[in-house]
Amino acid sequence: MTLIIAIDGPAASGKGTLARRVAAHFSLPWLDTGLLYRAVARDVLANGAALDDVAAAEAAARAILAETLDDPALRGPKAGDAASIVAKIPEVRAALLDYQRAFAGQDGGAVLDGRDIGTVVCPGAHVKVFVTASDEARAQRRFLEHQGRGENISYDDLLTDIRQRDARDRGRSTAPMLAARDAMHLDTTELDANQAFDAMMTLIRTRLGSL
Ligand code: CDP
Repeated sequence: MTLIIAIDGPAASGKGTLARRVAAHFSLPWLDTGLLYRAVARDVLANGAALDDVAAAEAAARAILAETLDDPALRGPKAGDAASIVAKIPEVRAALLDYQRAFAGQDGGAVLDGRDIGTVVCPGAHVKVFVTASDEARAQRRFLEHQGRGENISYDDLLTDIRQRDARDRGRSTAPMLAARDAMHLDTTELDANQAFDAMMTLIRTRLGSL
C-alpha cells in the first residue's frame, strides 16, 4: 500500500512535530520541505549573492544536496525569513519540485510538510491536513524552543517574524500558502503536542476509513 500524507500550515503551527510523529507511526520517510528553502537561502548567501538574485537562487536550488539539510544553521528566525524570500521566486520553486515529488514517490509513500504540499507538490496525496494555531500560541512555542536551546530571542521579535513570514507566504503569486480544497483542518492553539498528535491521528483514520 502507498500512503502519501501532506501536512501544510504556517510557521510554528506544529506541523513539523506532527509530521515527524505521523511518519514514525506509519514507518514512512519524512521530508521537512521548509529545510529545502532554508538551505537554498543559506547557499545563495554563502555564494555572495543577494536573496532576490533569481539566477543565483535557481542555481542553488538545482544544486541542493540532501546531506546538507541536517545543519543547525538552518534553524532560527533569520534562516526562516531568508527562506521565505527565495521561496517567492518561481524558478526556485520549480527547481525544488522534482526533488520533492521524487521523495513523495518512494515505494510505500511518504510524509511531507510545508506550505504547498497539498496544493502543488502532491495534489493527489491520500491525506491532506492544514495545521493552524493563533499567532500568539505559535510565537510562544517558538520562544520556548529557543529558550530550550539556550538562545535569547524575545517573544515580540518572534511574533513579528511569524506575522511577516505568514504575510509573505500567503501573498506570493506562485504556490502561496493555502489549504487545499480537500484538506482537513486542525487548529492546535489549545492543544499540547500529544493532544495535537491524537487529533491528527483521528483525522487521518477518518480519512483513510473513507478511502
Ligand atoms: O518551521 P517553520 O514553519 O517556521 O518554517 P519552514 O517550514 O522551515 O519554512 C521556512 C520558509 O520556507 C517558509 O516561511 C516559506 O516561505 C518557505 N516554504 C515554502 O515556501 N514552501 C514549502 N513547502 C515549505 C517552506
